[in-house]
Amino acid sequence: MAIIPIRTFGDPVLRETGSVITEVDDALRQLAADMLETMYDAPGVGLAAQQVGVRRRIFVYDCGGGPGVVINPEIVETSGEWEYEEGCLSVPELRFDIVRPRFVHLRGTDLDGNELDIEADELTARCFQHETDHLNGMLLLERLEPDVRKKAMGTLRRRALAQQALAAVGLQARSAD
Ligand code: NI
Repeated sequence: MAIIPIRTFGDPVLRETGSVITEVDDALRQLAADMLETMYDAPGVGLAAQQVGVRRRIFVYDCGGGPGVVINPEIVETSGEWEYEEGCLSVPELRFDIVRPRFVHLRGTDLDGNELDIEADELTARCFQHETDHLNGMLLLERLEPDVRKKAMGTLRRRALAQQALAAVGLQARSAD
Protein backbone atom coordinates (compact mmCIF):
# COMPACT_ATOMS: atom_id res chain seq x y z
CA MET A 1 0.00 0.00 0.00
CA ALA A 2 1.10 3.53 -0.60
CA ILE A 3 0.05 7.06 0.16
CA ILE A 4 -0.56 9.02 -3.06
CA PRO A 5 -0.13 12.83 -3.22
CA ILE A 6 -3.56 14.49 -3.26
CA ARG A 7 -4.22 16.82 -6.21
CA THR A 8 -5.44 20.27 -5.21
CA PHE A 9 -7.44 23.11 -6.73
CA GLY A 10 -5.95 24.27 -10.04
CA ASP A 11 -4.90 20.76 -11.12
CA PRO A 12 -6.78 20.12 -14.39
CA VAL A 13 -7.44 16.44 -13.54
CA LEU A 14 -9.99 17.62 -10.94
CA ARG A 15 -12.10 19.02 -13.79
CA GLU A 16 -12.17 15.77 -15.75
CA THR A 17 -14.96 13.22 -15.85
CA GLY A 18 -13.92 9.72 -14.84
CA SER A 19 -14.38 6.88 -17.29
CA VAL A 20 -16.70 3.97 -16.49
CA ILE A 21 -14.87 0.95 -15.04
CA THR A 22 -15.60 -2.26 -16.93
CA GLU A 23 -13.26 -4.67 -15.19
CA VAL A 24 -12.04 -5.12 -11.61
CA ASP A 25 -8.42 -6.21 -11.84
CA ASP A 26 -5.45 -6.24 -9.47
CA ALA A 27 -4.49 -2.71 -10.50
CA LEU A 28 -7.93 -1.42 -9.49
CA ARG A 29 -7.82 -3.31 -6.19
CA GLN A 30 -4.39 -1.78 -5.51
CA LEU A 31 -5.70 1.69 -6.41
CA ALA A 32 -8.61 1.29 -3.97
CA ALA A 33 -6.27 0.13 -1.17
CA ASP A 34 -3.93 3.07 -1.83
CA MET A 35 -6.84 5.52 -1.94
CA LEU A 36 -8.12 4.27 1.43
CA GLU A 37 -4.66 4.60 2.95
CA THR A 38 -4.32 8.11 1.48
CA MET A 39 -7.77 9.08 2.79
CA TYR A 40 -7.06 7.86 6.35
CA ASP A 41 -3.64 9.54 6.33
CA ALA A 42 -5.06 12.93 5.21
CA PRO A 43 -7.37 12.43 7.19
CA GLY A 44 -10.69 12.59 5.36
CA VAL A 45 -14.00 10.72 5.15
CA GLY A 46 -14.00 10.27 1.36
CA LEU A 47 -11.64 10.33 -1.61
CA ALA A 48 -12.36 10.15 -5.34
CA ALA A 49 -10.03 8.88 -8.08
CA GLN A 50 -9.49 12.33 -9.65
CA GLN A 51 -8.00 13.47 -6.34
CA VAL A 52 -5.11 11.05 -6.84
CA GLY A 53 -4.83 11.89 -10.55
CA VAL A 54 -6.85 8.95 -11.91
CA ARG A 55 -9.70 9.50 -14.39
CA ARG A 56 -11.86 6.51 -13.44
CA ARG A 57 -15.20 6.19 -11.67
CA ILE A 58 -14.25 4.95 -8.21
CA PHE A 59 -14.34 6.49 -4.75
CA VAL A 60 -13.58 5.31 -1.23
CA TYR A 61 -15.17 6.45 2.01
CA ASP A 62 -15.44 5.89 5.73
CA CYS A 63 -18.00 8.01 7.52
CA GLY A 64 -17.54 6.11 10.78
CA GLY A 65 -18.99 2.77 9.70
CA GLY A 66 -15.80 1.27 8.28
CA PRO A 67 -14.13 1.49 4.88
CA GLY A 68 -16.17 1.32 1.68
CA VAL A 69 -15.31 1.31 -2.02
CA VAL A 70 -17.85 2.24 -4.71
CA ILE A 71 -17.24 1.64 -8.42
CA ASN A 72 -19.35 3.43 -11.07
CA PRO A 73 -21.55 5.15 -8.46
CA GLU A 74 -24.89 6.52 -9.50
CA ILE A 75 -27.20 8.55 -7.31
CA VAL A 76 -30.63 7.34 -8.38
CA GLU A 77 -32.78 9.25 -5.91
CA THR A 78 -32.45 12.12 -3.44
CA SER A 79 -34.80 13.77 -0.99
CA GLY A 80 -34.91 16.33 1.79
CA GLU A 81 -32.44 19.10 2.55
CA TRP A 82 -29.53 19.26 4.94
CA GLU A 83 -27.04 22.03 5.60
CA TYR A 84 -23.56 20.95 6.55
CA GLU A 85 -20.16 22.60 6.75
CA GLU A 86 -18.38 20.79 3.96
CA GLY A 87 -14.68 20.59 3.18
CA CYS A 88 -12.56 18.91 0.52
CA LEU A 89 -9.04 17.52 0.67
CA SER A 90 -8.45 19.13 -2.76
CA VAL A 91 -9.46 22.57 -1.46
CA PRO A 92 -7.45 22.53 1.77
CA GLU A 93 -8.32 24.63 4.82
CA LEU A 94 -11.59 26.02 3.43
CA ARG A 95 -15.02 24.91 4.62
CA PHE A 96 -18.43 26.04 3.42
CA ASP A 97 -22.00 25.70 4.62
CA ILE A 98 -23.71 23.91 1.74
CA VAL A 99 -27.29 22.71 1.46
CA ARG A 100 -27.74 19.42 -0.36
CA PRO A 101 -30.30 16.61 -0.19
CA ARG A 102 -30.40 14.84 3.19
CA PHE A 103 -31.08 11.36 1.79
CA VAL A 104 -29.60 9.60 -1.21
CA HIS A 105 -30.07 6.25 -2.83
CA LEU A 106 -26.75 5.16 -4.34
CA ARG A 107 -26.11 2.31 -6.74
CA GLY A 108 -22.76 0.96 -7.91
CA THR A 109 -20.58 -2.10 -7.58
CA ASP A 110 -17.92 -3.18 -5.11
CA LEU A 111 -14.48 -4.71 -5.69
CA ASP A 112 -15.97 -8.23 -5.75
CA GLY A 113 -18.35 -7.27 -8.54
CA ASN A 114 -21.38 -7.28 -6.22
CA GLU A 115 -24.07 -4.72 -6.90
CA LEU A 116 -24.34 -2.07 -4.22
CA ASP A 117 -27.67 -0.54 -3.35
CA ILE A 118 -27.28 1.84 -0.41
CA GLU A 119 -29.71 4.25 1.18
CA ALA A 120 -27.87 6.84 3.24
CA ASP A 121 -28.58 10.05 5.11
CA GLU A 122 -26.74 13.06 6.52
CA LEU A 123 -22.92 12.63 6.61
CA THR A 124 -22.79 9.47 4.49
CA ALA A 125 -25.30 10.90 2.01
CA ARG A 126 -23.23 14.10 1.86
CA CYS A 127 -20.06 12.11 1.26
CA PHE A 128 -21.69 10.11 -1.58
CA GLN A 129 -22.84 13.33 -3.27
CA HIS A 130 -19.48 15.07 -2.84
CA GLU A 131 -17.46 12.11 -4.17
CA THR A 132 -19.84 11.50 -7.09
CA ASP A 133 -19.40 15.18 -8.00
CA HIS A 134 -15.61 14.63 -8.09
CA LEU A 135 -16.08 11.75 -10.55
CA ASN A 136 -18.01 14.17 -12.75
CA GLY A 137 -15.19 16.72 -12.59
CA MET A 138 -16.99 18.96 -10.13
CA LEU A 139 -15.65 20.53 -6.93
CA LEU A 140 -17.68 21.76 -3.97
CA LEU A 141 -16.87 25.33 -5.12
CA GLU A 142 -19.42 24.85 -7.87
CA ARG A 143 -22.09 24.15 -5.24
CA LEU A 144 -21.63 27.59 -3.63
CA GLU A 145 -23.80 30.66 -4.00
CA PRO A 146 -22.19 33.06 -6.57
CA ASP A 147 -20.99 35.64 -3.99
CA VAL A 148 -19.53 32.99 -1.65
CA ARG A 149 -17.87 31.30 -4.61
CA LYS A 150 -16.33 34.58 -5.78
CA LYS A 151 -14.82 35.16 -2.34
CA ALA A 152 -13.47 31.60 -2.18
CA MET A 153 -11.92 31.91 -5.65
CA GLY A 154 -10.24 35.15 -4.55
CA THR A 155 -8.77 33.39 -1.50
CA LEU A 156 -7.53 30.48 -3.63
CA ARG A 157 -6.00 32.84 -6.21
CA ARG A 158 -4.17 34.85 -3.52
CA ARG A 159 -2.92 31.61 -2.01
CA ALA A 160 -1.61 30.40 -5.39
CA LEU A 161 0.19 33.74 -5.94
CA ALA A 162 1.75 33.58 -2.47
CA GLN A 163 2.99 30.05 -3.18
CA GLN A 164 4.49 31.20 -6.51
CA ALA A 165 6.18 34.13 -4.77
CA LEU A 166 7.64 31.79 -2.13
CA ALA A 167 8.86 29.44 -4.86
CA ALA A 168 10.50 32.38 -6.70
CA VAL A 169 12.26 33.52 -3.50
CA GLY A 170 13.46 29.96 -3.03
CA LEU A 171 14.88 29.93 -6.56
CA GLN A 172 16.66 33.25 -6.02
CA ALA A 173 18.10 32.05 -2.73
CA ARG A 174 19.43 28.94 -4.45
CA SER A 175 20.91 30.86 -7.40
CA ALA A 176 22.70 33.21 -4.95
CA ASP A 177 24.56 30.30 -3.33
NI1 NI B 1 -13.51 16.49 -2.14
